[in-house]
Amino acid sequence: MAQLVSSWYQNKTLPESYIFPPETRPGDLIVPACKTIPVIDLGKAEGQNRADIVRQILTACEEYGFLQVVNHGIPEEVMKASMDVLKEVFEMPAEDKAMLYSEDPKRSCRLLTGGARYAREKVHHWRDNLRHPCHPLQDCIKHWPEKPIRYREIVATFATELKKLGSRILELVAEGLGLESGYFGDKLSESTKLSVNHYPPCPDPSLTLGLSKHCDPNLITIVHQGDENGLQVLNSGEWIGVEFLQNALVVNIGHQLQIISNNKLKCSEHRVVTNSRVARTSAVFFIYPTDNCIVEPAKSLIGDTSHYRAFEFKEFKHEYFTNNGNSEVVMERFKSQA
Ligand code: OGA
Ligand code: NI
Repeated sequence: MAQLVSSWYQNKTLPESYIFPPETRPGDLIVPACKTIPVIDLGKAEGQNRADIVRQILTACEEYGFLQVVNHGIPEEVMKASMDVLKEVFEMPAEDKAMLYSEDPKRSCRLLTGGARYAREKVHHWRDNLRHPCHPLQDCIKHWPEKPIRYREIVATFATELKKLGSRILELVAEGLGLESGYFGDKLSESTKLSVNHYPPCPDPSLTLGLSKHCDPNLITIVHQGDENGLQVLNSGEWIGVEFLQNALVVNIGHQLQIISNNKLKCSEHRVVTNSRVARTSAVFFIYPTDNCIVEPAKSLIGDTSHYRAFEFKEFKHEYFTNNGNSEVVMERFKSQA
């Protein structure tokens, strides 16, 4: 508990245990947040421009594995109230945070620090994190934080809206891939989890990371960036910053969507850098298959070669966890035997 960065960072220099090796630290190179990641106006998706929006989404998923959506239908007040209450969690007094803190990965809702396994990390990430499942809501809400007092009510609304938005985006992706309507509905996208990252101001952002390079193991992810830049995407060997846009949401492809699309869509590696000025709190909504759901490339996208074998999603989760999120090693396990 004493380790939570938000509890001790003030007036400290960067401890040795947070310094990444030279090859993975961000260094002094300032990566400008640029406008390269496509920004897509979802407000146009239901009208005569639908085919164009579908095409824009597909192109973004093929080229970047990332996009931002605006006019996505989640009310501004819901977004603001949610981000405010999520930030508040990390500003609570130590005794309130202690109620939520746990190093037990089996605990449904927990506050933690660093990567998912602090005790086993060589270098710690400059981050605190609160995570919990959001589905089925009636069951899991009982385990959500009781403080801040409005947390459950506000976050339940936010999670419901994010799930709806996720389904809408998946429907557009299905359309773009030529899959039948509802392809990603049901078990493939039934599970959801909210992961709230809090990156306090950092004494030396050039030496450490909020999150190191990774791909998301799920189907699709929706991210509220907070109100600061920090998220970077690896594209053609170069890091590009995802520009923070007011009221926009970032969407990125996870491993399962890459597999189902038989590599037509690629998930991209990304990381989070810190800054020395202000804390950044991001809300990350993971949409993923149920444990027993069978994942495999869609028949109509196989063509001559199916790049992956069929598997139960829980097997993927297990491999991802065991291999510490090393995407290359994990994806290798699911490739089909030639
Ligand atoms: C993640 C992630 C980005 C962010 O949690 O998987 O990529 O901006 N987060 O916090
Ligand atoms: Ni991620």
